[in-house]
Amino acid sequence: MRLLTACFLLAACSNPIPTPTGTVCPDPDPGDLTYENFGKPFMENYCTMCHLSTLPRSQRHGAPIYHDYDSLRGVLETPDHIDEQAGSGPDADNMLMPPDRCPSEPGGALNVSCKVPTEDERKHLALWIACERTRPHTF
Ligand code: HEC
Repeated sequence: MRLLTACFLLAACSNPIPTPTGTVCPDPDPGDLTYENFGKPFMENYCTMCHLSTLPRSQRHGAPIYHDYDSLRGVLETPDHIDEQAGSGPDADNMLMPPDRCPSEPGGALNVSCKVPTEDERKHLALWIACERTRPHTF
C-alpha cells in the first residue's frame, strides 16, 4: 500500500493497472508528431506483430480483435485503450504493453523478448494520440 501511494505521488513507477495518462494536446496543436513520422513507426516497432488487422485470432497471441494498429484508422478506434496500456503522462506511466515475449515476425512463435519503448517514446505516444484524435480525418 505504501509503495502504491509512493508511486502515485511520484508518478514515476509503472502502473499495475491501465490508467489514463491525462495527456492533453496543447492548443494550438503543435502538429509535430504525426502518424507518418511517429505513430506508424512506433506501432510497427512495438505493436503490430500482434495487433495486426490481417492476423486471424489464432495468430494474435491473445491480442484482442478490433485492436489493430496497422492503420491510423485502427489506432483511432481505441485511442483511450492505447493511452492506458502504453502511454506515459502526468497521471500515469503505463507499461502494460508490449508484453514480455514477442514473435520475431507477425503470427510466428513467441521467440524473442519484446522491444520496449523508451520513456520519451511513451510520452510521445500519449501526446500524439491526444493530438491526433482532435485532427480532421476523412474516415
Ligand atoms: C506479443 C503480442 C503483443 C504485442 C507485441 C502487443 N500486444 Fe497489446 N495485447 C496483447 C495481448 C495478449 C492482449 C490482451 C491482454 C489482456 O487481456 O490482459 C493485449 C491487449 C492490448 C490492448 C487492449 C486492452 C483492453 O482494453 O482490452 C491494448 C490497447 C493493447 N494491447 C495495446 C498494445 C500496444 C499499444 C502495443 C505496442 C506498444 C501492444 N499492445 C503490443 C498482445 C500484444
